[in-house]
Formats: sequence, structure tokens, C-alpha cells
Amino acid sequence: MNIILMGLPGAGKGTQASEIVKKYPIPHISTGDMFRKAIREETELGKKAKSFMDRGELVPDEVTVGIVKERLSEDDAKKGFLLDGFPRTIDQAEALNDIMSDLDREIEAVINIEVPEEELMNRLTGRRICEKCGTTYHLVFNPPKVEGVCDLDGGKLYQREDDNPETVSNRLKVNIKQSKPILEYYDQKGVLKNIDGAKDIDDVTSDVIQILDDLK
Ligand code: AP5
Repeated sequence: MNIILMGLPGAGKGTQASEIVKKYPIPHISTGDMFRKAIREETELGKKAKSFMDRGELVPDEVTVGIVKERLSEDDAKKGFLLDGFPRTIDQAEALNDIMSDLDREIEAVINIEVPEEELMNRLTGRRICEKCGTTYHLVFNPPKVEGVCDLDGGKLYQREDDNPETVSNRLKVNIKQSKPILEYYDQKGVLKNIDGAKDIDDVTSDVIQILDDLK
């Protein structure tokens, strides 16, 4: 199963991805997570990505395509994958097309989680993440049982550096501009599935799972 999860920043891609991989044994490949890990580990990739991410800009295609190509050729991705946050430009979409042709595989579905723009700022500025396991919470929409503490492992919750209102505003601007042509690209290929991401988290998960079950 080769799947792409799309949606503007804060649409719920990461939240839904963690539910999908509980049901389907495919790796969740998030370019944002890969960049954040590289920044934490202070690698060359992290140094290249940091200034763009801090400003809410896209990391250049030549950097991003390379890491995805490498990741998709790893063993665990051979049985399928769930891409989150890639592609974000038409050049990335074309590059993914080439990677898939080389691997003799095809993208089966592009699930686009649609959420009204005005809700996204609230979602992102209220997001908190467990520093141990990466579980995502929201101060209002999905709060932990104890403030500041992960329900699953007691880890401390933190706020992502790019979730401040100023960076969020630029992320939304950049992504709104980029997303339309990509959605059209996948619509023309007949694989685009739009879902209503404004519903409760569990209801969105049911809709996503329904699409994936129908692919089998
Ligand atoms: P990335 O990490 O991909 O961030 P993003 O696309 O901005 O998306 P987010 O992770 O912020 O949101 P999400 O949709 O996963 O929402 P979540 O589930 O957490 O990218 C970060 C940066 O990396 C980019 O700005 C760029 O610089 C760089 N980058 C990454 N990929 C790149 C690429 N391909 N090319 C170039 N640069 C790239 O949910 C958000 C909040 O809402 C949470 O608190 C959650 O609890 C809550 N929530 C979720 N669903 C619901 C719901 N249904 N109802 C109420 N609340 C909900």
C-alpha cells in the first residue's frame, strides 16, 4: 500500500498517520520529522534545513527529494509506505513519480485532509508533543489527562519551534500557494481522495480507514 497524506499545516496528517500505522504495517515517513531529527542530531542535513524551517519556508527540493529517495529504498518501505508532508511542490511530485517508476510501483491513494484555514492557526499554536514518544496533543481539542504530561509514558510535553503565530502564518501562506497544483496533479491521475478534516479526530480516522480498506 503506497499512500500519501496531504493537508495544510495542522490539518491532522501526523495525528491520522499514527492511527493508520496501528492498523496497517507500513512505515510512516514524514519529511518534517526527518528534518527535525536531523536538527536535533546537528547533522549536515539538519544544518541545511533549520533556517528554512525556522522561517516557515520549504526546504529546497534538491535536499528534500534526496532524503525521500533514500528512505523509500529502505527495506521496511518495500511493502508500502505512508508519506506525510511530501510532495509539496510539483518538482517533488515529478521526482516521486520517477522514484516510483524506478521501483516499479505506483501511488495508490492521495488522501487530502481538508480543514478551513481559520481553524489551522488554533490547532497549531495549541499543539503539544511528547518529548519521549512524539505523541501529539492539543491544549483544547485533545488534551492530556494531566497538563504538560504524556498519557502514554509520562514524558514532558513541548511546543514545536515553528508553532509560534508568526512562523505558522508564513507556513500557511507558503503551503496554501503550493498545495493547489499538487492536488490538481493527483486528481488528474485519479488517485485524489478528499476528506473532511474538520470532524472530530476519531471520525476523521474512520473516514481515512474506510478509504484504505476500500483499496484492498
Ligand atoms: P511538517 O512537519 O510536515 O509540518 P506541516 O505540514 O506544517 O504539518 P504539521 O506537522 O504542522 O501538521 P499536521 O497536519 O501533521 O497536524 P497534526 O496532526 O500535528 O513540516 C514542517 C517544516 O518542514 C515545513 O514548514 C518545511 O520547512 C519542512 N518540510 C517538511 N516537508 C517538506 C517538503 N516536502 N518540502 C520542503 N520542506 C518540507 O495536528 C495539529 C494539531 O491539531 C494537534 O495539536 C492535534 O492534536 C490537533 N488535531 C488534529 N486533528 C484534529 C481534529 N480532527 N480536530 C481537532 N484537533 C485536531
